Amino acid sequence: MEIIKLKFNSHGDERGSLIAIEEGLDIPFSIKRVYYVFDTLKNVHRGFHSHKKLEQILICVSGSCKILLDDGKEKSIVNLDKNDEGLYIGPDMWREMFEFSENAILLVLASEVYEENDYIRDYDEFISYRINNN
Ligand code: TYD
Repeated sequence: MEIIKLKFNSHGDERGSLIAIEEGLDIPFSIKRVYYVFDTLKNVHRGFHSHKKLEQILICVSGSCKILLDDGKEKSIVNLDKNDEGLYIGPDMWREMFEFSENAILLVLASEVYEENDYIRDYDEFISYRINNN
């Protein structure tokens, strides 16, 4: 499985650091929604879904967490622990998020507004959707 990670430029000086992310330059889609996940307990697993159309970039802007990606054939675990690195997740990819550190903030840039119809939340349904749409 190809893991697509994007590296963002950090503008650091003696005052601290700043990272800017611009659609068209740093992100391969138009950003229609931004959300962030925080206060997640260490033993909690979240996600457990895929999307039919949605594209997302996940950035752990504080702390760390792990993302399990599953394309229906292969699984891969990605460690997110750098605030200048984004993980691209396209459609038809099952994902789970876990092992959030105490201070973790997971920022997500999304190509569409929230639409429950775009979700597949049942793993068997995800597998049959993949088989029928690829
Ligand atoms: P949920 O899909 O369970 O989160 P995760 O994928 O991390 O397990 O979302 C939690 C709640 O937040 C659920 O009630 C739906 C709502 N929600 C929105 O209203 N807008 C959003 O953009 C997202 C991602 C979730």
